[in-house]
Amino acid sequence: MIRIGVLGCGDVANFGHIPAILSTDGVELVALYDPDPARLSSTSARFDGLPTFDSTEEFYGQGLDAVVIASPAPTHLAGVLEAATRDVHVLCEKPISEDESEAETMIGAMNISGKIFMVGFCYRFSPVARQIKQWIEEGTVGKIRALRLIYIWNLHGRYQQQPDHSWVENPRWAGRMVEGGPMVDCGVHMIDLSRWWLESEIVRAAASGAWVADYEAPDHMWLNMDHRCGAHTNVEMSFTYCHTAREPINHFSYHLIGDGGVLRYDRDGYVLEARTGQETIRVPGASEKNFEGMYAAFRDAIRSGDTTGLPLAQDGLIATKIAREATNLVMGDRARPTA
Ligand SMILES: NC(=O)c1ccc[n+]([C@@H]2O[C@H](COP(=O)([O-])OP(=O)(O)OC[C@H]3O[C@@H](n4cnc5c(N)ncnc54)[C@H](O)[C@@H]3O)[C@@H](O)[C@H]2O)c1
Repeated sequence: MIRIGVLGCGDVANFGHIPAILSTDGVELVALYDPDPARLSSTSARFDGLPTFDSTEEFYGQGLDAVVIASPAPTHLAGVLEAATRDVHVLCEKPISEDESEAETMIGAMNISGKIFMVGFCYRFSPVARQIKQWIEEGTVGKIRALRLIYIWNLHGRYQQQPDHSWVENPRWAGRMVEGGPMVDCGVHMIDLSRWWLESEIVRAAASGAWVADYEAPDHMWLNMDHRCGAHTNVEMSFTYCHTAREPINHFSYHLIGDGGVLRYDRDGYVLEARTGQETIRVPGASEKNFEGMYAAFRDAIRSGDTTGLPLAQDGLIATKIAREATNLVMGDRARPTA
């Protein structure tokens, strides 16, 4: 059994990591830590009393093989550096770090430990992303020339209605820009997918953006990337699509345009299809995320030492660097509207 501990018991730990670890054969969740005692105890209670520890010293005292760092980005550096001294494998949430130099420090420390340093790009493990990868490899729609990857949503809504029917600002809306805005927060998954699908590095990137709301960073962004293979990827990301609507909708889709057809995924209705000159192939779609698949891959890599296909720290560094530079470019280009 691979003994895993989770550092950080917030949203992503509760909806993603912990349920996935608990449902993966061959791994055991033996320790939780969070500096917030209320978060720690409520998470433990939610999952039938998982063991909690008040310090990382006691947490690591449980004989861990691997840790999951599911705390906010500003805490990832310290978390990974401590893990590196404890000789454990690491699965760290995205965005990997606050900047490139932090990521390089983390990677250097983990290289010395010789343990796996994976990044939480859970989109790679969705059956949707895997099917698209297979279609690309089989040349189902020829050579992929252009990608449109879109996620426009309302970040859980700006306002919430109270029992007395008044509206207050949603606490999940505030402070969310700390990690860098939509391109850094969600866009890194799309940047990673484009590199992984095409197996081709990004050689040039440009960005544009708009402030629909009064965010610290542009809240609706477009990123245009040229790959070495000649293909082009456009990523569109928004936190403010329908953010004040009483009946919000969102849109999540992948379009991969080949010289022999189009691969298409629409999260609405889980549409997943390949439209070619000969036929339209339709297969069952799924969610864009897959934490269970991510843990099965993490377990297999720990057992075998083979990290082929895993999103590693270097992939996290590349995606985060592109997303941050794009965001900074837009912020440098245009003053945020003040009124
Ligand atoms: N892969 C995904 O699909 C996905 C989805 C959501 C969030 N995330 C990422 O996961 C990370 C956490 O996001 P969240 O939404 O769960 O945040 P959150 O604010 O809900 O939870 C973070 C938790 O970390 C705890 N924490 C703070 N400092 C800590 C430390 N030093 N050590 C351990 N725990 C600490 C906080 O007390 C809090 O309970 C972020 O980097 C975010 O971008 C990834």
